[in-house]
Amino acid sequence: MPKNKIKIIMAAAELAPLVKVGGLGDVTGSLPRALAKLGLDLAIFLPFYGSIDRKKYKAKLLKDFLSIDISSKQEKFAVYLSHLPESNIKIFLISHPLFSGKDIYVAGSRYFKKGNYSSSKGVYSREISDIERFVFFSKAVVESIRVLKLRPDLIHCHDWHTALIPTFIDEYSLEHADFKNIKTIYTIHNLANQGIAGLDILDYASLSHDLTPAIMEDYYDVDGQVMDLMKVGILSADYVSTVSPTYSREILSKEYGAGLEKYLNRRKKHLVGILNGIDTDFFNPQKDKYIKKKYSLANVFSVKKINKENLQRISRLPLGNQPLFGLVSRLVPQKGLDILLLVIEKLIEKYDLQLIILGTGKKDIEVSWQNLAKKYPRNIKTNIGFDVALAQKIYAGADFFLMPSAFEPCGLGQMISMRYGTIPIVRQTGGLKDTVKNKKNGFVFKNYDKESLAKTMLEAIKFYQQKSQF
Ligand code: GLC
Repeated sequence: MPKNKIKIIMAAAELAPLVKVGGLGDVTGSLPRALAKLGLDLAIFLPFYGSIDRKKYKAKLLKDFLSIDISSKQEKFAVYLSHLPESNIKIFLISHPLFSGKDIYVAGSRYFKKGNYSSSKGVYSREISDIERFVFFSKAVVESIRVLKLRPDLIHCHDWHTALIPTFIDEYSLEHADFKNIKTIYTIHNLANQGIAGLDILDYASLSHDLTPAIMEDYYDVDGQVMDLMKVGILSADYVSTVSPTYSREILSKEYGAGLEKYLNRRKKHLVGILNGIDTDFFNPQKDKYIKKKYSLANVFSVKKINKENLQRISRLPLGNQPLFGLVSRLVPQKGLDILLLVIEKLIEKYDLQLIILGTGKKDIEVSWQNLAKKYPRNIKTNIGFDVALAQKIYAGADFFLMPSAFEPCGLGQMISMRYGTIPIVRQTGGLKDTVKNKKNGFVFKNYDKESLAKTMLEAIKFYQQKSQF
């Protein structure tokens, strides 16, 4: 092992197992472990959300009374220290009332309205938006790096929440020599969420209006000039990565670029797609404490049946031999639930299949699947919520795992399902294309429409019916 390990600091809004909404948290929870195994020195910054279990994660106060300039006032915060479970990877938790609530994301206003954030009670007295919270977080990360003398070689920023970090680093390096050599990499987990703010975010962050051309480059929408934090990250980091090779190429086009293709093309030489992985220790049917009966490759055929039966039982679906489809996902338009909705009734009526859904997201999507579950109580079970135990039971108990996404930067569900011997059915896009090969380790369809999905699900059902082949 080299004497001087390369020192990497990550910053993100989610980190499994402490706090997680989607795949972002899974990746920030497992990537540091994988990199540490390669001999790199890793640490991670995360907001200290009210929902993080202080005792369980042994969070101890490391440094109090740090402060940063926010809305031209000194705003205090503290840093707590914890560790990724069963590792010596440090987690620095930024503690401030902006994060004391239970929610990771609070949404709030899409844009700032100039002037109304600096009341006498402080920045958090008005309705808080995620933009403010994460800009605060980003600035606090950089200040903590200075005060704690962490001296990283590289800062790895994840998604728009941390996209201003390279800019703060630039600003700090004007006054602090040891910030000059810090490199930054910005990873795009999903272009669908960009963090769009009014220009007054610059005043909030106490950044000069002419600080960097990247920030000030024109970006307009119906409300006039706005700042797109995702764009700032793309333009200001030394390197930009995304979570699969195919997605890194797709996003150069208008169809997948979400309005940022111009900037991504400009960074093409410094843009790379690196496929995500999963934590194969956590996602391990031989050790999984959440599933009815553990199994391995040697007994997958006999034991998977037991897990399927258990899943049907807890879902109050008839026990039987019909094909069982699982879907664990954020319930948002990206995930292809609209085309699934258009085909599922016909397939149920003809083939008596079963479908178990788990996730939360957009209200209208949740409601339409709840209604359908009421209409087909023998076939569909819709679980609205976030439930690690049930998710594992679905991965282990289903015959097929559905991911008909319109786009998918990487996707982890298809990899987890394969780890459990459950066959993925996916659309050929992003990381799904890179990981699932048609009729080799799953079923793949190309066009995003109901006909293609129906045809592929039908193929899967026919395949299932030929028991020996299945
Ligand atoms: C986002 C993407 C998903 C990706 C995950 C982790 O949730 O939508 O495709 O797997 O981030 O990178």
